[in-house]
Amino acid sequence: MTTRRDGWWTDAVVYQIYPRSFADSDGDGMGDLPGITAQLPAVAELGVDAVWLSPFYRSPQDDGGYDVADYRDVDPLFGTLADAQRLVEQAHAAGLKVIVDLVPNHTSDAHPWFVAALAAPPGSPERDRYVFRDGRGSHGELPPNDWVSEFGGPAWTRVTEADGRPGQWYLHLFSRRQPDLNWGLAEVRAEFVDILRFWLDRGVDGFRVDVAHGLVKAEGLPDWPYERDRLAMYGGPKPPLPFYDQDGVHDIYREWHRVLAGYQPARMMIAEAYVGPAPRLARYVRADEMDQAFNFEFLVTPWDPAELRAVVDRGLAAFRDVAAAPTWVLSNHDVVRHPSRYGMPADYPIARGLRAGGQQPDEALGLRRARAATLLMLALPGSAYLYQGEELGLPEHGTIPEELRQDPARLRGGTHAGTRDGARVPIPWAARSPAYGFSPSGRSWLPQPPSWAAYARDRQVGVAGSTYELYRAALALRRTHRLGRGELRWREVAPCALAFENRDLLVLLNFGPSPVRLPEGWEPILASADLAAAGVPTDAAVWARRARRSAVAGVVPV
Ligand code: NOJ
Repeated sequence: MTTRRDGWWTDAVVYQIYPRSFADSDGDGMGDLPGITAQLPAVAELGVDAVWLSPFYRSPQDDGGYDVADYRDVDPLFGTLADAQRLVEQAHAAGLKVIVDLVPNHTSDAHPWFVAALAAPPGSPERDRYVFRDGRGSHGELPPNDWVSEFGGPAWTRVTEADGRPGQWYLHLFSRRQPDLNWGLAEVRAEFVDILRFWLDRGVDGFRVDVAHGLVKAEGLPDWPYERDRLAMYGGPKPPLPFYDQDGVHDIYREWHRVLAGYQPARMMIAEAYVGPAPRLARYVRADEMDQAFNFEFLVTPWDPAELRAVVDRGLAAFRDVAAAPTWVLSNHDVVRHPSRYGMPADYPIARGLRAGGQQPDEALGLRRARAATLLMLALPGSAYLYQGEELGLPEHGTIPEELRQDPARLRGGTHAGTRDGARVPIPWAARSPAYGFSPSGRSWLPQPPSWAAYARDRQVGVAGSTYELYRAALALRRTHRLGRGELRWREVAPCALAFENRDLLVLLNFGPSPVRLPEGWEPILASADLAAAGVPTDAAVWARRARRSAVAGVVPV
């Protein structure tokens, strides 16, 4: 597969690090940049090409750092700017690229711009950097429109003016501590170009752009009285959303594309855009815009062969149409980890998350399917994103006590109300160490469940059949066979199976109740589960190559 801006990202496997929960060097129970730097050799050993760091900038941490108060500095929780610089250098020395998070839709309410906006009168240039409006109702007591925050409740908060009276309202698509910026303003655009340059000049290799579909809002901020779907779908039965996927966002990315194009070695951008259908998403990766966009339709697809095949086809076709490489992802810090998703009944509303006292996944079933799904994802052409801990087969912490939960989404019953905390728990490195090796003091900002000892990295490294070794083997084979730069050709093997060839490998997943044989002439080289003599068992995946001697005898070795 060739792409228009072919680069290291085209077939890269990127490992997402959530800094709060990766490795704590100073014992405060919060992960930090020196902790990450110290573990970079472990990341490189897994066989990935790059890391993406969720935000580590100065922030009141209302939304895990996605509420930025200073885009050009590191929060003291995580270290210093010098620590960030060291991290980038050490990553490069270990052969890893570094992608940082950019949060342009909103700032923190502690950002100097917002502090100034609150202190300034209505109609001032300070307020114009955000989306301030007068309220509706005879005294302005009603929000300016009916938009709802992603975290629940109105997307507007009313401020108190200098004279002590209730005044204007400001827009926040997320928490009230995350005011949306006014991207109609040249000053906002110039500021973010400068922020891009700040990090590019420090050697980062790319940006993951947060809420990339949200920056521009429809003229007049019209009401939208419909129920929200997971993906902002364009062209469905409901009218298009007035706050997502507006045409105007693309001009911003065209400008950023030009900024990145001025840097060598080549830098990239990936859109976090919950947008569908796939051709709509592909607009973010047109030749003069971003390089990648997360395919969340793939992530939300249930464990079903027909649906998975269809979503892969839709993604491949849409991205091919704009000559961009597809990107695949199964887990991140916003969703229930995939081993737990696949362990829940198909009719469970998984977007709501898991809760203490609520229904919990079938852990063994979920892990079995997750391992198979990973072999599917890593065999697809394009690039793949992994989320820290998935290489351990880590399930969600589904029973965090209510009073310990931190996600602002928990408060108001919005799309993410079920808690995203369960995916953000500090990961286990060593089964017998305090906090499972996450922190030398044994502290951990979210509790780790006792069952995680069994998933600790030191229980899996070098252990045949462990999830860690499965990932490592898959990543190595993916590299040698250059699967990320291959082409997918479906094969019809059995109705309850998915099978395709990519380069010289055959990939087969079995979703049915009884084993499925590999086609004649193929032998397995990697499997997500023990293979039975009868073939690939239920909820398992196999990578196979053309058999050498065994084909002659007509026997498929397992
Ligand atoms: C997407 C991020 O991944 C999520 O964690 C955050 O809450 C929202 N964007 C708002 O920044």
